[in-house]
Amino acid sequence: MIVLPLILALPILFVSAQSNDTAVQIEAIEAHFTQAALVPELLATFDPSSILTVNFDGVGDLSPGQSLTQDQVAPTPTIKITAANSSVDLTGNFTLAMVDADVVGADESNITRHWLENSVIISNGQVSNSSATAITSYAGPAPASGSGPHRYVVILYQQPASFSPPSDFSQPNLGVSKFDLNGYVKDSQLGAVVAANYFTVELVARAPQVMLP
Ligand SMILES: *[C@@H]1O[C@H](CO)[C@@H](O)[C@H](O)[C@H]1NC(C)=O
Ligand SMILES: *[C@@H]1O[C@H](CO)[C@@H](O)[C@H](O)[C@H]1NC(C)=O
Ligand SMILES: *[C@@H]1O[C@H](CO)[C@@H](O)[C@H](O)[C@H]1NC(C)=O
Ligand SMILES: *[C@@H]1O[C@H](CO)[C@@H](O)[C@H](O)[C@H]1NC(C)=O
Ligand SMILES: *[C@@H]1O[C@H](CO)[C@@H](O)[C@H](O)[C@H]1NC(C)=O
Repeated sequence: MIVLPLILALPILFVSAQSNDTAVQIEAIEAHFTQAALVPELLATFDPSSILTVNFDGVGDLSPGQSLTQDQVAPTPTIKITAANSSVDLTGNFTLAMVDADVVGADESNITRHWLENSVIISNGQVSNSSATAITSYAGPAPASGSGPHRYVVILYQQPASFSPPSDFSQPNLGVSKFDLNGYVKDSQLGAVVAANYFTVELVARAPQVMLP
């Protein structure tokens, strides 16, 4: 007699311990940034007015600090912005950046630019690049093997009308490179951090091959 395996799709009742209240979620992201030493290593202070949600095709919406593989983060993600409340103004231009802040304890000189777009807008709660300038198009993480879990931080800055990028950042198509993020923000007169989030990618060193005599 053939016994067919019966796969029962049991409905899973998931009781979320975490509230979906945006203010609570923003506090959770702030706590993650402090715990991961991104505050103060990357950002001196962090007081976002919105939630930034990174979504990779095939992975879905990331949770703060989520650990992912290099393959999972290879495609350009979509970025969702959710205001803390209805008095947060999300009209106008913004600058979107993604940097590799290296491992916990790395210094500012090791920050690497992976994505930099000026004049993005927020349309239907999503960051839109329809009229943006891609200074550096999205370039997926490639941390050195065995160098530990790198922190990839996606940040949305207010871009006021006075925004004026330094001449070496005024043209598109710059590649991945070391980057003085805070110097750039100051020199180009970007405004406050609207929202930010991060994920981690680690390439584990392969065990050395045993050479047989
Ligand atoms: C949480 O989400 C549910 C479903 O989307 C919604 O009905 C509810 O109002 C939300 N609660 C808060 C506090 O935002
Ligand atoms: C709305 O959110 C902003 C940013 O978090 C906060 O500064 C402000 O006090 C909030 N306003 C209200 C009415 O809750
Ligand atoms: C910077 O990165 C290099 C290469 O990954 C690493 O060897 C070095 O320890 C890092 N330095 C600091 C100060 O974080
Ligand atoms: C907008 O982003 C898409 C997806 O990453 C990219 O293919 C396109 O070239 C970008 N357009 C501009 C104007 O930056
Ligand atoms: C937004 O960016 C676009 C494209 O660079 C520019 O034409 C427009 O003047 C900017 N608007 C504001 C309010 O800065």
